[in-house]
Amino acid sequence: MHRFPWSRAAAVCVLSHPLVLWSVDSNSFIRHLPKAELHLHLEGTVTPETLVELSARHDSTPLHPAQAQALFQYTDFSGFLLAFKAITEQLRSADDYELVTWRMAQRLADQGVVHAEVYVSVGVVYYWRRCEFEPLFLGMERARLRAESELGLSILWIFDAVRHFGPREAARVFRKAAELRPQFPSVIGIGIGGDERRTGAEPFRNLYMEARDAGLRLTAHAGETIGPEGIWGALNIGAERLGHALSAIQDPELMGVLAERQVPLEICISSNLRTGCCLLPQEHPVRRYFDAGLMITLNSDDPALFLSNLEDEYRLAQESFGFTQEHLRELASNSIEASFLPPERKVEILRRLESLE
Ligand code: ADE
Ligand code: ZN
Repeated sequence: MHRFPWSRAAAVCVLSHPLVLWSVDSNSFIRHLPKAELHLHLEGTVTPETLVELSARHDSTPLHPAQAQALFQYTDFSGFLLAFKAITEQLRSADDYELVTWRMAQRLADQGVVHAEVYVSVGVVYYWRRCEFEPLFLGMERARLRAESELGLSILWIFDAVRHFGPREAARVFRKAAELRPQFPSVIGIGIGGDERRTGAEPFRNLYMEARDAGLRLTAHAGETIGPEGIWGALNIGAERLGHALSAIQDPELMGVLAERQVPLEICISSNLRTGCCLLPQEHPVRRYFDAGLMITLNSDDPALFLSNLEDEYRLAQESFGFTQEHLRELASNSIEASFLPPERKVEILRRLESLE
């Protein structure tokens, strides 16, 4: 796995440096920024410890902590997807989904996150587990409502299909989102994750139109493991917000279109480095996107698998990519503007953001 120059050991060194006060202030500024996480997979928030707990609920021979840790080891993008699948396989009941949703919400609130739009891999539930999703969803909803009342954190759900399972499987996911939305307005949108190298965006065009007509918002992982053609494809089928868009930097025309249309990009720096989609930190385009006027947001993707969280992503932007505090405020503001929240709530959060000292 890729090693980071800004590992936790490096962070500890900062504490003995004269800049320590600046660093503490900076951490506090990041913590108190009201911010949204827009690219976060519920399954990717499950830690090895929680996985052991889940296994003890279900398995006659429960997972040992070392085995759980081993599941989180991967060396490339395909291995990462297998780790993600192994975690999802341990989520079997409504109570399991409630537990992981509640733990995710607590961690988000601890970081000053006020709103999250969370992908849930409904495609994996249907395809691999062959079971109904709705009973499991009720567990997620219980925890979501508790997070709203006890933590002041709002959560919206994005039903994610696995693109390499194909459009027929994706149709089941998107139609379930459309079916649940009238009763559960927290189901806000749909997306496609999985392996772009095996399936582009085009086969999902009709399904995206159908989802849009059902009132769902459209997102797509795009340009994470393949070139700019993946991003053009996602735009062409109507995706409103793009996950990763790592390869846009290779295509000046595309950069122009993204800047002009202010298409929100869900940037996930640690994810790209850990999966090997971006080989070196200095090659990551996040700063060049910002300087070119693209509408970028910072996100953690699968924090338990990438040993990161949203605060870490903001710190990383500051320490390794030269973003100032005012830039970070702008990124937090982008996260609220690019969210699928109603305008009144956006305005309320943006006011708090602007008044933060
Ligand atoms: N599922 C969870 N995280 C993902 C990612 N980064 N890319 C594609 N599919 C995913
Ligand atoms: Zn993702």
